[in-house]
Amino acid sequence: TLFGTITPQGSKNAALPMIFASLLMHGTTVITGVPDITDVRVAIDIISHLGAKCTFSCDELYINTDELSYVRVDSSLTSKIRASSYLLGACLARFGRAHVSSFGGCNFEYRPIDMHLYAAARLGAVTKDNEIVCNRLFGADILFDKISVGATVNALLLSASAEGRSRIYSYAREPHVFSLIDFLRSAGAEILIFPEYIEVVGHPLSCGRAGVIPDMIEAGTYVAFGVATASKIALKCKPERELLPFVEALDSAGLSVNFDGEKMCVSGEMRHPCQIITSPYPGFPTDLQPQTAPLMALFAGGEITERVWLGRFGYLCSLSHFGVRYDTFGSRAIIYPSQLHSSVSESPDLRGGASLLVAALSAEGESVIRQSDIIHRGYENIVKKLQSIGADIKEIPLD
Ligand code: EPZ
Repeated sequence: TLFGTITPQGSKNAALPMIFASLLMHGTTVITGVPDITDVRVAIDIISHLGAKCTFSCDELYINTDELSYVRVDSSLTSKIRASSYLLGACLARFGRAHVSSFGGCNFEYRPIDMHLYAAARLGAVTKDNEIVCNRLFGADILFDKISVGATVNALLLSASAEGRSRIYSYAREPHVFSLIDFLRSAGAEILIFPEYIEVVGHPLSCGRAGVIPDMIEAGTYVAFGVATASKIALKCKPERELLPFVEALDSAGLSVNFDGEKMCVSGEMRHPCQIITSPYPGFPTDLQPQTAPLMALFAGGEITERVWLGRFGYLCSLSHFGVRYDTFGSRAIIYPSQLHSSVSESPDLRGGASLLVAALSAEGESVIRQSDIIHRGYENIVKKLQSIGADIKEIPLD
């Protein structure tokens, strides 16, 4: 049983676009509340290759971009994180050219970038082989045919640097998209948000400032650790809207979720089967889907419909080593009530790795999670944080 209070880290998916957006800004940019996770370290490394001078300590990141010059960042680096796709928008805007590289991130079988390229083409960029170039970017209407966080981020970076007015239709409404907009505004961008579209008028940008919002996916993961171990873990944050579909799903399965001032506590058992359908914000966040599956298995079972990443059930095979029983039917998974036991398994991807931790913490006996470095891509100090609330966990460095 775990006991204690967790303060969420800064949001990974809010910090990363800001780091790449700083390439559009002249002078020194300051971002506070930056989580010390591997993806952030890689992002800093990537922009340093382009000449950014970065200082990162105690969650404050200073980025000076006065002496940037274009280089093709090696794919051994860009393939480590998905957020490297923001180089498309940032480099086109700053240098008039970008390299269409192998952008990394978790492997969900199919992660296209056609919408990113469409946004760039709308503003006047031309793709030749693996290079995308423009003399100047001109404002235009960008009409996405589905919701994409990454494409919305790149559309914002491009249109904030284009001449004239752009409108971005069918934009992603995740909180981190709005924090990027605030960050761009702090550097002088002219951006208006309407229900149907975002309107951007390009301007030279300088010296942005931002505080990163709390990471509701990390917060939800700790809630899952608490539920799985029948523990009382309090979260020291106001649960933002992003967490509510997760909280509502737990609530309808029988848990009681209490808010006490600035703290959120979850207690009880999931007596009823739990049903979730992931979808873009404000729907159930796909990034909390894998952590919910072992909870379903531990209690009355449940059903998952995945509407964002059709290939996001790969982790279930790793989870089955702990005794989780399941079936998949395309974008649906049925999780059966299961007897969990300790096991040895491998992190298949970031949130899949977190879901193995949920199973391992609840199972009696000692479990081993290999490839734990993947978990550090998105969770700051996870071993120390778990130790601080009583988990018996240690990291064994590889030789
Ligand atoms: C971001 O990925 C996050 N990553 C993901 O978090 C998150 O799962 C995802 O948004 C959805 O919330 C970062 O912010 C770094 P998308 P992104 O473009 O931007 C399709 C985590 O665990 N699509 O919104 O790459 C795509 O196939 C990670 O923290 C196209 O068809 O996601 C998917 O079905 C994993 N064409 C859907 O859109 C495109 O050009 C949503 O993808 C782009 C996307």
